Amino acid sequence: MKHTSDSILKADQASYLESIESPRDALLVKMEAYATTHKQPISDPEVASFLAVTATAARPKRIVEVGTNIGYGAIVLARAAGPDARVDTIESSPELCAVARGFVEEAGLADRVTVIEGDAIVTLTKLEGSIDLVYIDCVKQDYPRYLELVLPKLSIGGLVIADNVLWKGLTAAAHVPQDERVRVEALRAFNQTITRDSSLRGVILPLGDGVAYATRIR
Ligand SMILES: C[S@@+](CC[C@H](N)C(=O)[O-])C[C@H]1O[C@@H](n2cnc3c(N)ncnc32)[C@H](O)[C@@H]1O
Repeated sequence: MKHTSDSILKADQASYLESIESPRDALLVKMEAYATTHKQPISDPEVASFLAVTATAARPKRIVEVGTNIGYGAIVLARAAGPDARVDTIESSPELCAVARGFVEEAGLADRVTVIEGDAIVTLTKLEGSIDLVYIDCVKQDYPRYLELVLPKLSIGGLVIADNVLWKGLTAAAHVPQDERVRVEALRAFNQTITRDSSLRGVILPLGDGVAYATRIR
């Protein structure tokens, strides 16, 4: 559990939740240490736990992750969704793709997790087949466009999960610094779609930095 300025929980609540966590997985701990050392923005462990519970329950066959980084979310999702699930994860940085592929190999998931090097919007536009779960965790101002591209491919009952939708509290703030306005406006529009679009049933969870969670109902 992170004790950072973006965390929604009070420190004592975070410490309590940390104290009742199940023993950590060695590879995930290693990846968290790598991310800290190399200053890489992987998902928070509590968000990873949420991804794992969701994928375990929903058993999605085809998962797409937008924003791979070092492969942390992709590994969590692939493991939890089970041996029949495939994960396509998109990352624009060739260096990070190489790191992610190394960790995916180490996890024994190279046959089920494909790290696609490319721009997220370009790749989503070309991506074929239906999607059962999408995890959006990439460029914040592009969240509405990601959703627009993914929704027609999402199966009925399929899931949308998106990280950082409360953006350090800024999506709810009355005053937003100039350099955050484009991101915040995009996240506000995205959150409205998650909670109000007639094709979705969705909720914003106060987990990590805010997690959007929705299912396609029509
Ligand atoms: C927050 S990190 C993803 C963390 C990952 N989902 C996890 O669970 O640990 C976002 C990633 O998106 C990548 N990224 C940024 N712009 C991109 C783009 N236009 N297309 C694809 N990936 C991009 C960044 O390099 C970064 O590694």
